[in-house]
Amino acid sequence: MLEVSNLSAGYGQIEVLHGLSFEVRKGQVVTLIGSNGAGKTTTMRALSGMIRPRAGSIRLNGREVGGLDSHDVARSGLAHSPEGRRVFATLSVEDNLTLGAFPRLTGSRPKGDVAADRDRAFELFPRLKERREQLAGTLSGGEQQMLAMGRALMLRPEILLLDEPSMGLAPKLVEEVFRIIRRLKDEQVTMLLVEQFAMAALGVADHAYVLENGHIRFQGPAAQLRNDPAVRAAYLGGSH
Ligand SMILES: Nc1ncnc2c1ncn2[C@@H]1O[C@H](COP(=O)(O)OP(=O)(O)OP(=O)(O)O)[C@@H](O)[C@H]1O
Ligand SMILES: [Mg+2]
Repeated sequence: MLEVSNLSAGYGQIEVLHGLSFEVRKGQVVTLIGSNGAGKTTTMRALSGMIRPRAGSIRLNGREVGGLDSHDVARSGLAHSPEGRRVFATLSVEDNLTLGAFPRLTGSRPKGDVAADRDRAFELFPRLKERREQLAGTLSGGEQQMLAMGRALMLRPEILLLDEPSMGLAPKLVEEVFRIIRRLKDEQVTMLLVEQFAMAALGVADHAYVLENGHIRFQGPAAQLRNDPAVRAAYLGGSH
């Protein structure tokens, strides 16, 4: 489904990712873990076309998407819920969700029923339903984070990239986000997940890759990494 090989990317003169190879199979949840600055967000950006890879290949369902513009990557079915809250501040919650479906309407993928999917997003995120008319910029941080996730889901993605979906959320909302991730997993949504709560991410993931200074240092079944004392000591800080 998603096959990344020898991916290099960076900013200006600086190369951050030095030839990463990994894969996410259909229906799997894969987590990327690593310390601050390891290159997790940069990986997500390179996959979604926010930055252009310098080398390597990114194949989605067998088709090369590396180097495509982000809207063309989205059209091919890759949805990115980016780090931080990137919602359209001056549009309503409802319009933000509708826009999330836009790339699928202009591409060759099945168009489906946008209104039904919006209702489904409201069912997953009842808070958003209560605030459907509200301008996204006036939502709380946690609500904006949920909107970013809901909007990404509106693509009916082949793969969903979640970069720190629980960032800045109160503990109760963190739990809610993980509950939603589990529910999506039960529905066979393929996901690549980056989370500050690495133990929780390993708890939901099937497979994990540990990123260190732009290289993959370890990989394995998530349950195995979760119990590996060296991994725990180095990357998980014993928390969660
Ligand atoms: N827009 C940018 N311009 C220049 N350098 C950047 C930019 N964004 C990130 N970097 C650098 O790239 C490296 C990797 O950053 P990245 O954001 O990918 O890390 P991360 O693993 O997501 O970290 P965190 O856990 O803190 O989110 C860092 O050294 C960072 O300073
Ligand atoms: Mg990051």
